[in-house]
Amino acid sequence: MEVIICSSGEDVARIAAERIVDAIAGRDEPVLGVATGSSPLTIYADLARRIDAGELDLSRAHAFALDEYVGLPADHPQSYAATIKATVTEPLRMDPSRVHVPDGMADDLIAACEDYEQAIVAAGGIDAQILGIGANGHIGFNEPTSSFTSRTRMKTLAETTRVANQRFFTNGVPVPVHCVTQGLGTIMEARTIVLVAMGEGKAEAVAQAVEGPVSAMWPASVLQFHRRASVIVDEAAAGRLALADYYRDTWDRLPAHHRADG
Ligand code: F6R
Repeated sequence: MEVIICSSGEDVARIAAERIVDAIAGRDEPVLGVATGSSPLTIYADLARRIDAGELDLSRAHAFALDEYVGLPADHPQSYAATIKATVTEPLRMDPSRVHVPDGMADDLIAACEDYEQAIVAAGGIDAQILGIGANGHIGFNEPTSSFTSRTRMKTLAETTRVANQRFFTNGVPVPVHCVTQGLGTIMEARTIVLVAMGEGKAEAVAQAVEGPVSAMWPASVLQFHRRASVIVDEAAAGRLALADYYRDTWDRLPAHHRADG
């Protein structure tokens, strides 16, 4: 794993965006894996700035969201379909027909999950997967004890996740109990993974993911088996990393052309 500790949230976003741009370089129809939540918003803003500056074009790109709540229609303001439209599709000027979110309203959820997996394969697989991390170590909505080989499926949200996400539901609507999420096995097939985390609330999860034993109790720890995973964090989220100085040293000694900040 590449672990990069940044002195500011802006640096987290800029270096993450650089990793993503590198991962899709030369791809005519790149395939992005996109997350919702707060963590990736500044990455999307950075990518949007590059698009506005004419440095990046995602009009032929495909995108697949990690997850969706069960029972919220796509036009519900807190659905991830609506969130992805507002934070990814529109600012990144993507073709809406190429942006996919799991269907949490499908009559046959099992078939819809299977179709979602097949759509990812049909697009050529995910080139660059953007991830946040839950304070309990979830990625996507793969809560503790999720199978490392899991595929897109319905899950029950952990109570701590529902409490954490209540902040998005300001209109008195309770956070749904169930979700559809790409599995850990699905996520692990992305060719490049970029996980970002900010704030001390994520410090324990980041330490367990990067340095802990690989354990289903901390689902993000499966990323230790990925060949090309970058974990990009601010100082607060790095607060419990035992080898923080080593990661800083590694970064400082990296030849300039390998560093996102040049
Ligand atoms: C969102 C997702 C989740 C979030 C995680 C962190 O699509 O899959 O894993 O990335 O809950 O959320 P934030 O960034 O809001 O702290």
